[in-house]
Amino acid sequence: MAPGAPRRGNGTDPHRNGHERLSQAEAARGGPIRVAIVGVGNCASSLVQGVVHYRDARPDEDVPGLMHTVLGGYPVSAIEFACAFDVDRRKVGKDLADAILAPPNCAVRFAEVPRLDAPVYMGPVLDGVSASMGEPTDSKRFLVADGAPEDVAARLREHGVQVVVLYLPVGSQKAAEHYAQAAIEAGCAVVNCLPVFLASDPAWARRFEVGGVPVLGDDIKSQVGATIVHRVLTNLFEDRGVRIRRTYQLNTGGNTDFRNMLDRDRLATKKISKTAAVTSQMRHPIDADNVHIGPSDYVPWLDDNKLCFLRIEGEGFGGVTTELEVRLSVQDSPNSAGVVIDAVRCARIALDRGMAGPVRGPSSYFFKHPPEQYDDGACRERTQAFIAGEPLPARLVTQDG
Ligand SMILES: NC(=O)c1ccc[n+]([C@@H]2O[C@H](COP(=O)([O-])OP(=O)(O)OC[C@H]3O[C@@H](n4cnc5c(N)ncnc54)[C@H](O)[C@@H]3O)[C@@H](O)[C@H]2O)c1
Repeated sequence: MAPGAPRRGNGTDPHRNGHERLSQAEAARGGPIRVAIVGVGNCASSLVQGVVHYRDARPDEDVPGLMHTVLGGYPVSAIEFACAFDVDRRKVGKDLADAILAPPNCAVRFAEVPRLDAPVYMGPVLDGVSASMGEPTDSKRFLVADGAPEDVAARLREHGVQVVVLYLPVGSQKAAEHYAQAAIEAGCAVVNCLPVFLASDPAWARRFEVGGVPVLGDDIKSQVGATIVHRVLTNLFEDRGVRIRRTYQLNTGGNTDFRNMLDRDRLATKKISKTAAVTSQMRHPIDADNVHIGPSDYVPWLDDNKLCFLRIEGEGFGGVTTELEVRLSVQDSPNSAGVVIDAVRCARIALDRGMAGPVRGPSSYFFKHPPEQYDDGACRERTQAFIAGEPLPARLVTQDG
């Protein structure tokens, strides 16, 4: 397959949003990026801390986990948290700076966050809280607040929000759709970090196009997480001519994300997203029974430490077997926060350029289930071209592009 050719994506146009060169006017636009967070859990905690921690980074400083310290004219300090939505009574009604530290959050603390003047509003619960997460019997569950939900679109407008970051629990289909619709009504871009399909769903992609706002998604990819390691090793086997026969990726953790995923009924899209992120890299498809990828167990004392056990079995020259085993240990939530900082800045660039619908290049690089899958080198090149406002290199433009 030619480098950069699409790999079993569900769209056709590889980069139609990124052809214009960055104009002087765009480069000068800058200003703050007003962000609202939906779901003030561990990922939100790491994102907020990360923005505070790196806000004074010099433009020439190499910040680990960011593509660029200043991306498309936007430094990290451009990100301003305007407001947030949650349903947990330990978070609703607080300033975002305090809510990120409330239980059951357990993400590592690496920054002192000052008061942000960003209130956490009560959101509609819908399917955000599964039956098994709602019992107030231990510290790792959600405690739903009393009180009526706010009008989300009205609050987004009131706070001048430009980008909405969705961090809802896995399986929150109705809740994610509710917030996405409110964002469209309020003229906000959406960065969708959970595995509910919006950017990669043609019907929702169309809604964003008609609504005139961009969307990046779906399901955030971590800096060095199980997905990217599995993709890179899959490409290594493929490039060296070893046919992958079987593979698994078993993930365990002790945060509420893993607790929530014990409810197997909520897992359908997470499994699709994680599995497609790897199988899309295989040039020789293998039987579904020979691929097992997903969240596997909840170990409370691990807290935000995620352990991934990965195995690939392949057939090499002479039919001999090659086996690879990897154990990856990461702090789950900070691992994706830098990627979200870059995605938020790309969302703002897309707003500046008046784009609507899925932002394809950055979605392919930052997310596990984008509208189109490419190998990671091509994803990165597409994203760099988008940021610079340059046309894609000719070898990356497919017949559709
Ligand atoms: N590296 C990563 O951690 C990573 C990577 C990929 C995807 N994700 C996804 O990001 C999402 C967030 O992960 P997390 O670890 O922060 O989860 P979390 O469990 O720590 O936080 C979820 C938050 O959503 C709130 N919530 C529940 N229902 C709500 C509703 N209806 N409205 C508003 N808020 C509601 C909860 O009270 C909680 O504060 C998950 O879907 C996860 O799978 C995370």
